[in-house]
Amino acid sequence: MQPMRTPRQAVTSEAWLDGLVVPTPSASPSVASSTFHMGSGVFDGLMAYRNGDHWHLHLARPHLERFCVGCRRMRLTHNWTPTDLEQGIRELLDRCPSTTHYIRPIAFRGAPEILLTPSESLPISVAMFGVPADRDVPAALRATLSPVQRVSSEAIPVRWKVCGAYANSFIAQTHAQEDGFDTAIFLDRAGRISEASVANVFFIGDEGLVTPHLRADVFPGLTRVLVLWLAEQLGVPVAVRDVDGTELDQFTGGFICSTLMEIKPLTVIDSVRFDTTSSPIFEAILSAFRDLTHERAPYPEELGDLPATDGAQSRRTFSSRS
Ligand SMILES: Cc1ncc(COP(=O)(O)O)c(C=O)c1O
Repeated sequence: MQPMRTPRQAVTSEAWLDGLVVPTPSASPSVASSTFHMGSGVFDGLMAYRNGDHWHLHLARPHLERFCVGCRRMRLTHNWTPTDLEQGIRELLDRCPSTTHYIRPIAFRGAPEILLTPSESLPISVAMFGVPADRDVPAALRATLSPVQRVSSEAIPVRWKVCGAYANSFIAQTHAQEDGFDTAIFLDRAGRISEASVANVFFIGDEGLVTPHLRADVFPGLTRVLVLWLAEQLGVPVAVRDVDGTELDQFTGGFICSTLMEIKPLTVIDSVRFDTTSSPIFEAILSAFRDLTHERAPYPEELGDLPATDGAQSRRTFSSRS
């Protein structure tokens, strides 16, 4: 028997499961759970920053609303509201070490039934656990263009964070790491830049900040929205447009952003070199972002009204019944 390797990330010893804080192993689905087999669960991820003596739940509301919408779309109907879930996260954090955690909510059918579309009577579970996370890490990243395309929203709507869709990210990231890079950058079927394995991408050039339009099967990340808002506040010009995979050498800098990774500068995408960290635009965005997460500056009142969240990604859509 192979020795079990130590996991790279420790998970909190307790998890919130359907309203109760329980030992994390007892929150697991059955090995015969259809969600596990089909990848039909929905998840999200948010930061619980430890600022001084308290937890600061960064963008909790939009994260939890996005999670609940994704659950409804994937017929994982549960009755927990974003307010209930936020309360659950606070109950969980009360039992966690006082350090910054990434919180992962996930909805699934845990019962043993392997049908493609399981019986409606099967219970649907919502679990949330945490992973201690570093913040403000200065590391710069090396990226490579992925040999696999970004999954199309015409196949699986990318904005719902459906577990199975992340096999696409897994394949891209595995290729990147095996080739000595830190992350992959996807192209869509039209050869346009889409995003990184699990993060959105921005470039810096003559136009100011440039980021791919959502139509390139881009996940509408909340950090992306926040960066666009910060750019507006700072007076940095922004172009949200199609970015062709062949135009990367026009840019002088680039960075990726996500809840867990925050904002990370890119030094290369394959043979194209970037001097991101000496860009005043990058410096200004990074410092304004940290002012928010450390609660030194106020957040936007409404994220949902920003233009960055618009833009249909799919002509046909798997409708919501609720
Ligand atoms: C595919 C993908 N792109 C981008 C992001 C960044 O989104 P957010 O900023 O909301 O974390 C994520 C994170 O969940 C993601 O899974």
